Amino acid sequence: MFTQTLKKRVLGSNLVDLLTGPHGVDRYTELVAPTWTLGEGRAKVVDVRRTTPRSVTLTLAPNDTFTAAHSVKAGQYVNLTVEIDGRRHTRCYSPANSEGSTHLELTIGHHEGGLVSNYLYERARRGMVVGLDGVGGDFVLPARGPSGRGPRRILFVSGGSGITPVMAMLRTLLAERHAGEIAFVHYARSAAEACYREELAALHGRPGVRVLHGYTRSDAGDLVGRFGAEHLAAAMPAPDAVFVCGPTALVEAVQKHCDNVHTESFVPPVFEPPANPSGGRVTFADSGIDVADDGRPLLEQAESAGLKPENGCRMGICHTCTRRKTAGAVRNLITGAVSTGPDEDVQICVSVPVGDVDLSL
Ligand SMILES: Cc1cc2nc3c(=O)[nH]c(=O)nc-3n(C[C@H](O)[C@H](O)[C@H](O)COP(=O)(O)OP(=O)(O)OC[C@H]3O[C@@H](n4cnc5c(N)ncnc54)[C@H](O)[C@@H]3O)c2cc1C
Ligand code: FES
Repeated sequence: MFTQTLKKRVLGSNLVDLLTGPHGVDRYTELVAPTWTLGEGRAKVVDVRRTTPRSVTLTLAPNDTFTAAHSVKAGQYVNLTVEIDGRRHTRCYSPANSEGSTHLELTIGHHEGGLVSNYLYERARRGMVVGLDGVGGDFVLPARGPSGRGPRRILFVSGGSGITPVMAMLRTLLAERHAGEIAFVHYARSAAEACYREELAALHGRPGVRVLHGYTRSDAGDLVGRFGAEHLAAAMPAPDAVFVCGPTALVEAVQKHCDNVHTESFVPPVFEPPANPSGGRVTFADSGIDVADDGRPLLEQAESAGLKPENGCRMGICHTCTRRKTAGAVRNLITGAVSTGPDEDVQICVSVPVGDVDLSL
């Protein structure tokens, strides 16, 4: 059996690179085993559970290439790639397992009309191989350590599939025997649709742990109605730190009622197009198409022109949409930075033209 170091040394050598030609060594080793790749992170699906009517939970065993390059902190996301009808599609998913686990656990909510979530919900099976490319996100627990410093009273709030990153944090703190108090509030449509309900029910009442559920389509939960002062008082008044992930309305309600709030969102923000678009020409050089800039991000303008550029998060985090700008200037809607140089890579989901732009697309 090759160790990762030996595999890298032999398969990563210049000679092997030369012999395997333009396709690279991974195109050959994957014929032996699909997860046996040197350059590409991949994972095998080793378990599939459908514990609610609108979600699927996958346990992934990442290959050595992924684990050697990445460690995933509780609350971060991974970029997962699947091939559907011959095209690769990448989406971000936040593992729900505790930090340091050898396997990744993804719980994926089923979205009506959603491409990748539907595919995995319907087709995921044991033995399936998916791509894993990159880890990111700063929605993570504050530094903890033997000194015991850091927040002691922590409130987690989630809605729907937004439970995953906070579940990872909860599991991590419990594994670390967090000495303070934890409250966990989860909103779902109904008890049947509440992910991790049984595990959370078993945790409720452990010393220092309080779990409350609210159901938006029934009054059967511990909490009735939407998050507000009452729910906060029932869960944990004046927490030291709050971590929330869920629909925008839930995140905003938590921000309104709490201090020291850390937020994560799975949905792209709505970018207001500028009142006065630059009016420049946007040239998608590889396709021989050019359009007048209408002020929207380049990804949307390309899609309106009939192109189908690869994309994932559509909010500037996964880098799947990155394309080479060969001329012109663009402004990044998140950072505000204007990139003016030729031959720069830009994330087209969050870049708007500033005058004429040529893009390799
Ligand atoms: C940091 C981060 C972490 C994430 N973690 C998780 C996680 O742990 N679990 C999870 O479930 N999700 C997570 N997501 C969301 C996930 O990345 C995907 O966005 C989600 O699975 C939907 O992808 P999709 O390919 O199914 O939808 P897409 O095909 O990309 O469509 C996007 C949205 O448009 C809607 N849509 C698409 N086509 C149509 C249509 N024809 N008519 C109407 N509506 C349509 C879909 O319902 C969907 O909501 C995360 C996102 C981010 C940014
Ligand atoms: S689609 Fe994720 S960065 Fe653009």
